Amino acid sequence: MRTGHEFFVHGLNDIMDAERQLVDALEENANDSSRADLKRAFQQHRKETEGQIRRLEQCFEFLGEEPEETECHGIRGLVAEKKAFAEEDPSDDLVDVFNVGAAIKAESYEICEYESLVEMAREMKHSKVAQLLGQNLKEEKATLKKMEAFSDKVKPNEMMSSEEEEKSAANAKLRRRKRAA
Ligand SMILES: [Fe+2]
Repeated sequence: MRTGHEFFVHGLNDIMDAERQLVDALEENANDSSRADLKRAFQQHRKETEGQIRRLEQCFEFLGEEPEETECHGIRGLVAEKKAFAEEDPSDDLVDVFNVGAAIKAESYEICEYESLVEMAREMKHSKVAQLLGQNLKEEKATLKKMEAFSDKVKPNEMMSSEEEEKSAANAKLRRRKRAA
């Protein structure tokens, strides 16, 4: 790889793989979330993501380039985190909390990628490509907002078990005593 153009095409391949991985991840989130409104939101963004992939395919056509297999390691990492979390046997409410947090991470990642891709496309005067990427960026920003609103209302059912509460009260007492001494 030597040129800005090659670098840009590499970035397009990377985000294409990210979107493909996210179609599956969003389907999984829709299936294992317990709240109906959250399921709907994931399902809706999954459909949107399929449209984003089509826009990326159009970008390759405009550039006269063929998409290549590339792995987006960033999103792969988020998918791996989800797997590791699922092995902790979490309660349903915590799965919802986790899924919202994971979606916020994924959207933030995608927003960074699209912002730099839009900027590169503009610098290289690929105005149609910049416009298509800008549409994807807009959808990711709207999804991030929606997920941030979920994070205000999707909370663990219980913050602490009774033993944890006792322990934390005992610790607070100890700290007060230390301060007084
Ligand atoms: Fe996306």
